[in-house]
Order: sequence, then structure tokens, then C-alpha cells
Amino acid sequence: MAILILIISILLLSAPAASENEVTGIIGESVLLSCDLKSSTAIDTARLRFHWQDESKIVVYSFNKGEENQHQDSLYTNRTKAFRSEMTSGNISIKLSQVTLEDKQNVYSAFATLLGENDKHNHPCRTTLLVAARFPTPSVTVNKTNMNATCSTQGGYPQPVVTWTIQDRGNHTLDPWEVQTNITLDSESGLYSVWSQVNITENQTVTCHIFNPVLRETVSNTTIVSPSKSINTDPAGACDRTQHLIFMN
Ligand SMILES: *[C@@H]1O[C@H](CO)[C@@H](O)[C@H](O)[C@H]1NC(C)=O
Ligand SMILES: *[C@@H]1O[C@H](CO)[C@@H](O)[C@H](O)[C@H]1NC(C)=O
Ligand SMILES: *[C@@H]1O[C@H](CO)[C@@H](O)[C@H](O)[C@H]1NC(C)=O
Ligand SMILES: *[C@@H]1O[C@H](CO)[C@@H](O)[C@H](O)[C@H]1NC(C)=O
Ligand SMILES: *[C@@H]1O[C@H](CO)[C@@H](O)[C@H](O)[C@H]1NC(C)=O
Ligand SMILES: *[C@@H]1O[C@H](CO)[C@@H](O)[C@H](O)[C@H]1NC(C)=O
Ligand SMILES: *[C@@H]1O[C@H](CO)[C@@H](O)[C@H](O)[C@H]1NC(C)=O
Ligand SMILES: *[C@@H]1O[C@H](CO)[C@@H](O)[C@H](O)[C@H]1NC(C)=O
Ligand SMILES: *[C@@H]1O[C@H](CO)[C@@H](O)[C@H](O)[C@H]1NC(C)=O
Repeated sequence: MAILILIISILLLSAPAASENEVTGIIGESVLLSCDLKSSTAIDTARLRFHWQDESKIVVYSFNKGEENQHQDSLYTNRTKAFRSEMTSGNISIKLSQVTLEDKQNVYSAFATLLGENDKHNHPCRTTLLVAARFPTPSVTVNKTNMNATCSTQGGYPQPVVTWTIQDRGNHTLDPWEVQTNITLDSESGLYSVWSQVNITENQTVTCHIFNPVLRETVSNTTIVSPSKSINTDPAGACDRTQHLIFMN
């Protein structure tokens, strides 16, 4: 029996390599820093001690035999939540809320100890936090005087990739020289604004696509350039929102 317990303890606590992970947090929302001790037996939380720290070794969250956040840094006050009922199964994940740009690329590490006869420190998880903000669907407006269309949106992160397609040309993507794009960084919010313009001709259906490389999400809006006789420059129903969400792994 003692040998069995010893073997279990070794299995539980001696895994040397931390599991590496990458998560994306949306600014203002919360993100799960996931960690599983991969225990084959139930964990007694009265013997469990663990903490999460960031790459500056600042304590994000601490758990000591049932007591939470005795050692938490004030930087993370009110921003963390652990899942007590899940700890018995080895789940020491925490939820980090109110993600900000300052959290970008931070590497969070979890360290755990199961207090017993021969305590061993275990460094089971490392998570790199990527930070993003969704671009709202752009507005696309046609200027009939200049015969060009302008696409704009603001408040996204990180810097997006802007492309235009013309449906009448088999959804051909316009070359960079056909497009004038300004991407600006708002120094106050740290977020990006997009302004992009293309020349157009009558009856064309043009679509502006804003691709967020971290979220792997595209927001787009389409406009049909009505014949010049018409005074309607923004035909109702010509707008369309398509979003493609592709998550890695
Ligand atoms: C841990 O618990 C949280 C909250 O219930 C859950 O979202 C997460 O998927 C769990 N993680 C693991 C590794 O089981
Ligand atoms: C944390 O939340 C408590 C209760 O809502 C509040 O009184 C306190 O000011 C908050 N602290 C910080 C640093 O936000
Ligand atoms: C597309 O652009 C038009 C014109 O700027 C705007 O009125 C419309 O709200 C946009 N569509 C969406 C789905 O936001
Ligand atoms: C089109 O652009 C011209 C000059 O850039 C401007 O004076 C005019 O107000 C614009 N028209 C519309 C409908 O935005
Ligand atoms: C162009 O794209 C639109 C919208 O995605 C699609 O409905 C249409 O079939 C495409 N046309 C061609 C020629 O690929
Ligand atoms: C768009 O048209 C204007 C004249 O109407 C021209 O001066 C400008 O060079 C054109 N832009 C591009 C990118 O072709
Ligand atoms: C975009 O950049 C061009 C040249 O860099 C500039 O002429 C134009 O005014 C800018 N437009 C906006 C809306 O910032
Ligand atoms: C749109 O039209 C205006 C006025 O002709 C021009 O100055 C501007 O360069 C045009 N935009 C593009 C992308 O060519
Ligand atoms: C655009 O469409 C209208 C109505 O279908 C047509 O009368 C006009 O000739 C077209 N213009 C061009 C440049 O194809």
C-alpha cells in the first residue's frame, strides 16, 4: 500500500516538463488560464497549495490549503477566480478577468505542491496570453463625386490586414497599389483604426475585408455602386456582414 501511494505521488508530482499553452484574451473580457494536475486520484484541497505567477514573478492567484489569495499581488486584485469544486480532480485553472493590453504576451505559470510526507514542487503549466480586440464591422460608403469607396472601422487589436474584393471580377482581390489604406494607432486606447479607399466604377459590388491575425477573424461589409443617375449612394440591403471564426487547435 505504501509503495502504491509512493508511486501515485511520483506520478502526480514528478512530471518535470510544464505543459505549454497559448490562449487569446479579448480586451475587457475574461480568459481561462488552464491547468490540470493530471491526478489519477482525488486531491484533498486541505493538502493542496498552488499559485499562478506572471513572468515578472508577481503572484496572480494563490491557494493555500483552502485559503485564497494570501499572497496575491494588488495588481491582480478582483481579477481572478479559481474553481474550488474542480480542484479535487486536479483542475487548478483560474479565470483572469478584465484582460488589458498590458497582459499581452505575458507568460503565466502555475506551481503546485501536494503537502504530505515528501512534498514536491510541481510546475505543471505555462500559458502565454495573446491579447486581441475585435474590429467592429466596417462601414463602407461610396462617394459618387470622387467615384471611390471608403471603408472604416476602429477599436481593434492587433494591426489588421485590409483587403478589397470586387465581385464582378470573380471576387478578385485588389492589388495594394489600387488601394490606399491608413492604419493608425490610437495612443490613448492602444487600439487600431482603419481607413481604406479604392476607386470604383458604376455597378460594381465591392467588399472591404478586415482580418484580425490573432483572432483569425474577418469582418467585412459590401456595397453596390448604383448607376450614377441614382441619387441613392448607400442602397439598403447592400450591406452584409460575414464573419469567419477559425480557431487554431
Ligand atoms: C477546469 O474548470 C473550469 C471551470 O469549470 C473549466 O472551464 C475547465 O475546462 C476545466 N479545465 C480542465 C483542464 O479540466
Ligand atoms: C475589489 O472589490 C471590492 C468589492 O467589490 C472593492 O471594495 C475593492 O475596491 C476592489 N479592489 C480593487 C483594487 O479593485
Ligand atoms: C455596412 O456599411 C454601411 C454603410 O456605412 C453601414 O450603414 C452598415 O451598418 C454596415 N453594415 C454592418 C453590418 O455594420
Ligand atoms: C465626396 O468627396 C468630396 C471631396 O472629397 C466631398 O466634398 C463630398 O462631400 C463627398 N461626398 C460624400 C457623399 O461623401
Ligand atoms: C463572390 O463572393 C460572393 C460572396 O462571398 C459569392 O456569393 C459569389 O458566388 C462569389 N463569386 C464568384 C465569381 O466567385
Ligand atoms: C483614383 O482615381 C483618381 C482620379 O479620379 C486618381 O487620381 C487616383 O490615382 C486613382 N487611384 C488609384 C489608386 O488608382
Ligand atoms: C491617409 O494617408 C494619406 C497618405 O499617407 C493621407 O493623404 C490621407 O489624408 C490619410 N487619410 C486619413 C483619413 O487619415
Ligand atoms: C478618391 O477620390 C479623391 C478625389 O478624386 C482622390 O483624391 C483620392 O485619391 C481617391 N482615392 C483613391 C484611393 O484613389
Ligand atoms: C449599370 O447598370 C445600369 C442598369 O442596369 C445600366 O443602365 C448601365 O449601363 C450600367 N453601367 C455600366 C457602366 O455598366
